[in-house]
Amino acid sequence: MSLALTASHVRKSYNGRPVLEDVSMSFDRHGVYVMTGTNGSGKSTFLRISALIDDADSGEIVFSSEEGILKHDIRLKRRITLVLPQIGIFNTTVFKNAAYGMNIRGVPGAETAKKVEEVLAFVGLAHKKDQNALTVSSGERQRLGIARALVIEPEILFLDEPTASIDEKNSGIVEDIIMKLKAGGKTTVIMTTHDKDQAGRLADTWLIMHEGRLIPHS
Ligand SMILES: Nc1ncnc2c1ncn2[C@@H]1O[C@H](COP(=O)(O)OP(=O)(O)OP(=O)(O)O)[C@@H](O)[C@H]1O
Ligand SMILES: [Mg+2]
Repeated sequence: MSLALTASHVRKSYNGRPVLEDVSMSFDRHGVYVMTGTNGSGKSTFLRISALIDDADSGEIVFSSEEGILKHDIRLKRRITLVLPQIGIFNTTVFKNAAYGMNIRGVPGAETAKKVEEVLAFVGLAHKKDQNALTVSSGERQRLGIARALVIEPEILFLDEPTASIDEKNSGIVEDIIMKLKAGGKTTVIMTTHDKDQAGRLADTWLIMHEGRLIPHS
């Protein structure tokens, strides 16, 4: 696998209250890693720290590839993306929302259009591309968030509760997207969910955040 992530002895407290006490885990295989755990156990905190959006108090987040250990710079940040359950939507079309990542990177219009069409089709939103994104349903919004992340072809995709507050049909569509990513073999997915059946269906590796530590599900 090209891009691997290793967390070593990651600790994080908020206002003197420890959330992550000693999290160590290697994410070094393609496939789907699923984290479950009670509300407030620190899953989202760990995803933010892993995706380099927040800093740990101590411990290390190490990304490595064939070139060795990678600096936490913009080049690395372009290879990883975190999708939050409530993505920010711009007051414009689904297409333009999905194209955002390519536009800010200055990718030419024709190339962007081709990629955005492909990704919207991948998440089942091709027919919605001209609709104002503020008017899509919450299930569609979750998929738009994934589409927006996928346009930049991340090697590690962090999904924080990608099926929170959506119905069974839309959860099924999101699960299918994750299964397709797995089959594609190019993207490692590291996700959280409260749905244990879903964890069982999707996980190549199932992890539990418990008492500040990430432990394998047995
Ligand atoms: N920026 C912050 N400031 C203060 N406390 C925070 C901050 N971020 C997270 N916390 C606290 O850290 C704890 C862990 O939160 P986190 O969101 O990581 O849990 P979670 O496992 O994702 O929970 P859920 O399943 O409800 O999403 C919670 O008590 C939360 O209130
Ligand atoms: Mg959370």
